[in-house]
Amino acid sequence: MHYSHGRNTSFVVPRVRQAMVTRADVEAALRGVIDPELGGDIVDLGMVSGITIEGSTVLLGVALTIAACPMRDQIEGDSRRKVLALPGVEDVRIDVTAMTQEQRTELMTTARLRARDNAQQTMIDPTTRVITVSSGKGGVGKSSVSVNLALAIADLGHRVGLLDADIWGFSVPRMLGASDAQLSANEDRKIEPVEVEGIQLVSTGLIVENESSALMWRGLMLSKALEQFLNDVAWDRTLGYLVIDMPPGTGDIQMALSRLLPQAEMVVVTTPQRAAQRVASRVADMARRSHMPIVGVLENMSGFTTEEGRHYDLFGSGGGEELAMELAVPLLGQIPLDPSVVEGGDNGLPPMRARPDGPAAVAIRKAAERIVALVPPAAEDTCTARIDLLARRLEQLAATEPT
Ligand SMILES: Nc1ncnc2c1ncn2[C@@H]1O[C@H](COP(=O)(O)OP(=O)(O)O)[C@@H](O)[C@H]1O
Ligand SMILES: [Mg+2]
Repeated sequence: MHYSHGRNTSFVVPRVRQAMVTRADVEAALRGVIDPELGGDIVDLGMVSGITIEGSTVLLGVALTIAACPMRDQIEGDSRRKVLALPGVEDVRIDVTAMTQEQRTELMTTARLRARDNAQQTMIDPTTRVITVSSGKGGVGKSSVSVNLALAIADLGHRVGLLDADIWGFSVPRMLGASDAQLSANEDRKIEPVEVEGIQLVSTGLIVENESSALMWRGLMLSKALEQFLNDVAWDRTLGYLVIDMPPGTGDIQMALSRLLPQAEMVVVTTPQRAAQRVASRVADMARRSHMPIVGVLENMSGFTTEEGRHYDLFGSGGGEELAMELAVPLLGQIPLDPSVVEGGDNGLPPMRARPDGPAAVAIRKAAERIVALVPPAAEDTCTARIDLLARRLEQLAATEPT
């Protein structure tokens, strides 16, 4: 058997974890791996042929419809990231095999049943990559990062949605100069997202009259609001990426999200300060408990460089790197302090548009490129042609079978 090894980051740091991972944990994590073509998770589709646990190493068998499936890299990469996100897992070795004829027939049946039942939970297509921007506490620049990251990913040529999940602390509409826009309902009684700067935006700030009436939302359960934003919004079915600006803090919403969008992955925003890092690491811990892989750490407010080239580490240094090491994930970038972020937040012109060559925009663009490389868009190149062929053969077979 040929197992491919290890993680894709440039460094491997031992994680201090005692918990022993179980097969049930691994299976739960793999339910977040979606076959983009068949629109189901690989556990449901019977593509997981074996799970063996040896200490902190997980040996995984994945059976593809055909060994040369162009989606192989994606399914393999996603499986690795999901399982590595589990506490107690240091290494994942994947053995990819091709399905037997029987397995393929079974898979086809499952896939057809799925298509018929339309088992879709939310309006977000299972192939849409979901990136949550989390931090554990407010004021570290989560919303600024979400907005500019969404724009940067769109600039890379992807259709992007931006969900402001900070239900009663929303700031995204103002940052995008869309405070006056309102969500409307379409003829199917679904909410139409607001189209701004080429991205789809949904926020409670687009429902309430003004920012102070957001107080009304306090009675609303956060996870219910989130559910509504995922179920009752006519999101573009072709979204390549959905960026979610998470509310500060914790628990429920994280759990709700990983249940509603099993494909979600997290970017952790922190400042160079050690205190912020501790808070962020708690969020990361929650992510692991809800089987959400962490794409990486994005450090914000990383010093200030004057026009004369003098550099000041106003909020300390090293916090992002240390957190990334602790979580054994890549440091996606360091966004310097940049007045255009503050100005942009106030006048609705985000730096990605107002000052695309400014230090913040440049850093965020680089981070966006890394994120898209680490969480690549769902493969367009699929095995559909072969599946179709297979389906037709099966039908022919059925037709010629003596009754
Ligand atoms: N890189 C940066 N440079 C300068 N100011 C920033 C930067 N990132 C965020 N800010 C400012 O910090 C404040 C908090 O940012 P915000 O994105 O609202 O944080 P959060 O969503 O985490 O509460 C805002 O006034 C914003 O303009
Ligand atoms: Mg915010």
